Amino acid sequence: METKLSLLLVICLLTGITATTYDEFTYNGFKRSELYLDGMAEITPNGLLRLTNTTTMQQGHAFHKVPLHLKNNSDGNVYSFSTCFVFAIRPEYPDVGGDGVALVLSPTKGLPGALPKQYLGLFNFTNNGNSSNHVLAIELDTILNMEFGDIDNNHVGIDVNGLSSKNAAPASYFIERIGNFQNLSLISGKSMQVWVDYSNLEKKLNVTISPFSVPKPSHPLLSSFINLSSLILDTMYVGFSSSTGSMLTSHYVLGWSFKMNGQAPALNLSSLPSLPSEKHRRKLTSLIIWLALGVEVFITITACCIAYIIRRKARYAEVLEEWELEHRTHRFSYKELFKATKGFGEENLLGVGGCGRVYKGKLPTSKTEIAVKRISHDSKQGLREFVGEIASNSQLRHRNLVQLLGYSRRKGEFLLVYEFMSNGSLDKFLYDANKPPSLSWSQRLKIIRGVASGLLYLHEEWEQIVIHRDIKASNVLLDSEMNGKLGDFGLSSLYDHGSDHRTTHVVGTIGYIAPELTKTSRATTSSDVFAFGVFILEVVCGRRPIMPEASLDLHLVDWVWRSWRNGVILEVTDARLEGDYDLGEPELILKIGLLCSHPVPAARPTMRQVMQFLNADLSLPEIPKDGKDITV
Ligand SMILES: *[C@@H]1O[C@H](CO)[C@@H](O)[C@H](O)[C@H]1NC(C)=O
Ligand SMILES: *[C@@H]1O[C@H](CO)[C@@H](O)[C@H](O)[C@H]1NC(C)=O
Ligand SMILES: *[C@@H]1O[C@H](CO)[C@@H](O)[C@H](O)[C@H]1NC(C)=O
Ligand SMILES: *[C@@H]1O[C@H](CO)[C@@H](O)[C@H](O)[C@H]1NC(C)=O
Ligand SMILES: *[C@@H]1O[C@H](CO)[C@@H](O)[C@H](O)[C@H]1NC(C)=O
Ligand SMILES: *[C@@H]1O[C@H](CO)[C@@H](O)[C@H](O)[C@H]1NC(C)=O
Ligand SMILES: *[C@@H]1O[C@H](CO)[C@@H](O)[C@H](O)[C@H]1NC(C)=O
Ligand SMILES: *[C@@H]1O[C@H](CO)[C@@H](O)[C@H](O)[C@H]1NC(C)=O
Repeated sequence: METKLSLLLVICLLTGITATTYDEFTYNGFKRSELYLDGMAEITPNGLLRLTNTTTMQQGHAFHKVPLHLKNNSDGNVYSFSTCFVFAIRPEYPDVGGDGVALVLSPTKGLPGALPKQYLGLFNFTNNGNSSNHVLAIELDTILNMEFGDIDNNHVGIDVNGLSSKNAAPASYFIERIGNFQNLSLISGKSMQVWVDYSNLEKKLNVTISPFSVPKPSHPLLSSFINLSSLILDTMYVGFSSSTGSMLTSHYVLGWSFKMNGQAPALNLSSLPSLPSEKHRRKLTSLIIWLALGVEVFITITACCIAYIIRRKARYAEVLEEWELEHRTHRFSYKELFKATKGFGEENLLGVGGCGRVYKGKLPTSKTEIAVKRISHDSKQGLREFVGEIASNSQLRHRNLVQLLGYSRRKGEFLLVYEFMSNGSLDKFLYDANKPPSLSWSQRLKIIRGVASGLLYLHEEWEQIVIHRDIKASNVLLDSEMNGKLGDFGLSSLYDHGSDHRTTHVVGTIGYIAPELTKTSRATTSSDVFAFGVFILEVVCGRRPIMPEASLDLHLVDWVWRSWRNGVILEVTDARLEGDYDLGEPELILKIGLLCSHPVPAARPTMRQVMQFLNADLSLPEIPKDGKDITV
């Protein structure tokens, strides 16, 4: 026995492997590594560990095959350990990845029963958060999952037994020179290095990250007090786990070292395998992304039997052209929408609008409520631009805009899928005398503010200027908490291409159309502001922009102007309010409405100024009683 041991020792010494082999390892590339792999994980010919390739909804694991004995059996103490690795996340589309990668300590080599997508291949919905998991993970998370309380879509977190991080921070690294943290984009496709150090003495777990070529910063990104005594079992495995969602992403590890009771050996950065060249990455100007979060959850439906589809081809036939694939806006299958709306049944009809019928629906798998707008089109002209526009609109995200979730297309027909707004459109509350209760003043004010901030976002806060073109009460939808959201925005090519190009027809709805539009027919932010002004008056007065009750068609704007001139402006407020408000507020709001619906475009404020007026950050200019020459 003794001779055997000493022989082993000699062999070890001779081959340069120390007696602590099992407690320490270094992989500068994984060509000759001893890793347990499962799922999508593989070692590429040049020695990269690729945990996932660009197959969606998949996971991959790679574990150091030899178990670790991280616990001192005689006193139950956990040993200190240290590890570092270099990783890279390569999304197929430049600005969107999913779902991330994690360093993991677990009692098993694989993580049986774990799920891909937001579960990162670590847990599933039944065992997530259960202390019997004995799993410690350092997540590099590239998707914001509300359900786990994620802070953003680009963070590093310490997870104990579940995906709700104990501690997390936006991915960033400490720059010694400036003495501050600088943000990093995990999905930039670039290699980055991570150090994880646990000190048993201090019970401190530190996580540090930096760009590839930057040496370990002196300040860790995360430093948490964690007592691992009850988490670490007698044998544990260390490895990586990664998963993809609906976005195409490859997760790579280039090198990795680990050491118990000491500092992990530094990686030899110059000998790490190189990543595949990036030139194959698809270039895309527009795609829908943030959606993916929610949509991911319910995409799964398409797995229907092909024979069935063929049989019912006529019923569910769609049109898909190659250029549509460029956009990556979520495209729902027609069948999915057909099922969701119970075959576009009359009982699900929410309303009939200017350009189509709107149906309520419930997506079969996720039970998410949606509103589907069916628009018929007969020209091929403009189709491509229209899809492009949908793609870019689906990127618009604001709490006061009705979210476009995706679209579907059949011959001669477009279907737009929106989030469902349970309280329907605002006009019903304003004009439907039989609809109690009428809106209170504070509800009206909240809706006006909401719509103003949604419109400000469209005009100034998004990367392009989006002109709404059809602001009106019936395009403002109310959620369950009576927040107003603007719907039907930015579908200008739908309007433009719906008719003959040469007859430049005026876009908008009678009563909301700015006077200059009848001459130029060129919609501008200023013509939107005009319509917004009319909208404000509508909400305060509870009347339509063209008042049918007057014998002549009287414009609401003219009527309010007249009351202003006569010094009785408060008389125009909705009688159903029963005077239940602070006197100053309706007057201010009405004046803003008048200013916005000023006949001279140059006299109208911008939406930013409107917000400032509403927040009393800017005082309203004097509005002359003759209604002319107002300048902001
Ligand atoms: C990803 O890997 C799996 C299993 O190794 C393979 O079946 C699949 O074809 C790969 N997909 C891509 C896009 O390379
Ligand atoms: C394990 O704990 C015992 C008792 O505290 C101690 O004597 C021993 O040195 C520890 N072993 C290691 C490897 O730290
Ligand atoms: C979740 O994972 C656990 C542990 O791996 C497994 O026993 C269980 O069957 C899984 N549950 C589901 C619903 O997949
Ligand atoms: C945690 O998992 C164990 C074993 O799988 C199970 O017996 C227990 O009920 C789970 N606890 C919770 C709170 O789900
Ligand atoms: C870094 O990212 C965080 C979270 O995404 C953000 O709040 C912060 O403003 C960013 N800092 C800089 C300097 O860009
Ligand atoms: C963790 O970071 C803190 C703060 O920089 C430092 O004091 C501590 O020594 C570090 N511990 C380990 C184990 O690296
Ligand atoms: C750590 O946890 C173990 C077991 O739960 C406990 O005995 C020990 O006192 C804890 N140590 C500290 C410093 O809290
Ligand atoms: C790092 O790797 C390079 C290239 O393989 C090699 O030339 C160099 O000697 C290595 N450095 C160390 C310190 O091992």
